[in-house]
Parts: sequence; C-alpha cells; structure tokens
Amino acid sequence: MVDLKGAHCPAISFRPIRPSDLEVLEKIHSDLFPIRYESEFFHNVVNGHDIVSWGAIDRNRPNGQSEELIGFVTARIVLAKDSEALQIEDLLRFDSAKPDQTLVYILTLGVVDSYRHLGIATSLIREVIKYASSIPMCRAVYLHVISYNNPAIHLYQKMAFQCVRRLHGFYFIDGRHYDSFLFIYYINGGRSPCSPLELVTLIASYVKTGLKLVGAKLWKNEGKKASRWPNSKETRCLITTQSKRILMTEGTGFQCV
Ligand SMILES: CC(C)(COP(=O)(O)OP(=O)(O)OC[C@H]1O[C@@H](n2cnc3c(N)ncnc32)[C@H](O)[C@@H]1OP(=O)(O)O)[C@@H](O)C(=O)NCCC(=O)NCCS
Repeated sequence: MVDLKGAHCPAISFRPIRPSDLEVLEKIHSDLFPIRYESEFFHNVVNGHDIVSWGAIDRNRPNGQSEELIGFVTARIVLAKDSEALQIEDLLRFDSAKPDQTLVYILTLGVVDSYRHLGIATSLIREVIKYASSIPMCRAVYLHVISYNNPAIHLYQKMAFQCVRRLHGFYFIDGRHYDSFLFIYYINGGRSPCSPLELVTLIASYVKTGLKLVGAKLWKNEGKKASRWPNSKETRCLITTQSKRILMTEGTGFQCV
C-alpha cells in the first residue's frame, strides 16, 4: 500500500485504459467489488470494445511503477429506447421523434484505498460527463449503486446526480438480495419526465384550473351570457391533459427515493 501521509506526493493524470493495464485492472476490481467480472469484460475494457474507460495514473509512485493504475471508470453507450436497465419513459423525457437518443451507463468505478479522498473519483466521473456531453444525442449519464455503499452515494449526490429509483433485490450476492439506487445526471437538454418541482407546478395549476372551472359553473348557474363558455372549454381540456400526465406518472411507478 502506498503511504500518502509520508513523503510520497502523488502526481495524478488521466488517460484511457490500455491493454498493459489488464492485470492491475482485474486485481483492483477483485479487491474492490463483491461481484466477480468475466475476463471478457476486462478484455473489452482494455481494448475499447463497446466500452469507454478512463484510468487514473500516479506518475510519482514510490515503487517506480510510474504507469500503474490507481483508479478507473468504465462506461458504455446505450440507445435510450433499448435500455434494458430502465423503463426509459420513467426516467427520461423521451422524444420518439428522435429514436437515436443515447445514454451513457457507468459500469464500474473505483479508486485504490490509499488514494481515496483526493478527488480522483470526482475527476473520473467528470471525464465521463464531459465525454457524454460531447455526444449530441446523449441525454444522460446513469448508474446503479448498492444501497449500503454510502461513500459512493455521497459522491453521486455531491456531483448532483439525481436518485430516481430504488430497485428492490437488484443485486444477488453470495445468496442474498440487495437493493440498488439508480442515479442519473441529465445532459444536453435531457430531462426527467416529471421533476418534483414540475409535479408541484402541475398540482398548483390543476388546483387553479379546478377553481376556475367551479367559478365558471357558478357563473353559468347565475345565468350569465354563453359567450363566457369558450374560456371554460379551454380550461376543461387543460384539466384532462394534466390529469392524464399525473396518472401516467403514477401508473409507470416513478418513485423518487
Ligand atoms: C466511492 C469511491 C469511488 C470514492 O472515491 P474517491 O476518489 O475517494 O472520491 P472523491 O475523493 O472524489 O470524493 C468525493 C466525494 O465523495 C464522497 N465520499 C467519498 N468517500 C467517502 C466516504 N468514505 N464517506 C462518505 N463520503 C465519501 C464525499 O462527498 C467526497 O467529497 P469530500 O471529499 O468533499 O467530502 C471509492 O471510495 C471507492 O473506490 N470505493 C470502492 C468501490 C466503489 O464503491 N465504487 C462505486 C461503485 S457504485
């Protein structure tokens, strides 16, 4: 283990993961994660097959290994409409006129124990966000995190990822089920279908419109002129549309946790 409290002063830089990182990459994954990854996964990472990656390198390692990996992030581009990991209409305001919208899914992220709390994971995720933002059709970066991983949860919250869902029993590890949280970071105009603020605005507008309708009915009952009705028809249309949106949101199980 590197003693960062001693004389060693790390010089961290970031670059794509390479074939020469294979052994260290596998070792760090097996040290950090309770899940075992297939060797095919590591080969795809180091060769850049369908996976993009960034490695954090300490160029000032005390053991002379100047190119050794001390942190990594791996990610994959997925088509929003094909994303098996999420019911896309729940998480993204999906534009069916643009079926080629994509998302970037973070597969793994880790930093060697002795290099933690230096902002390395933050920088790695920023690289992913920067990359995803450079893809015009990409609307969000998202990931799953096991529900007890507080360091990672704090990290995503600090980076303004939104926790959009708790998935019960998502992970199955050593014979036990664990929940996961789904975090998402919207980019390039990507938006959640109904943010809490939007929900409040919708309810307020619903109440306001309802009051207008009641007022209009009272007005009618008092025998006022029919020329008032075009306005209230518009109002009724609005209520129908907005109620449907709320029902659709409830019906598809959107849950902010
Ligand atoms: C989660 C992990 C990647 C964080 O790496 P890191 O380089 O130490 O993270 P950073 O230095 O960029 O930390 C940024 C923020 O994350 C949060 N954070 C990081 N470690 C934390 C901890 N142990 N406890 C609470 N919050 C923590 C803090 O908000 C921190 O900000 P601060 O330093 O201003 O308090 C690292 O702990 C790790 O590799 N864990 C094991 C693998 C893992 O869990 N990966 C994520 C799977 S989803």
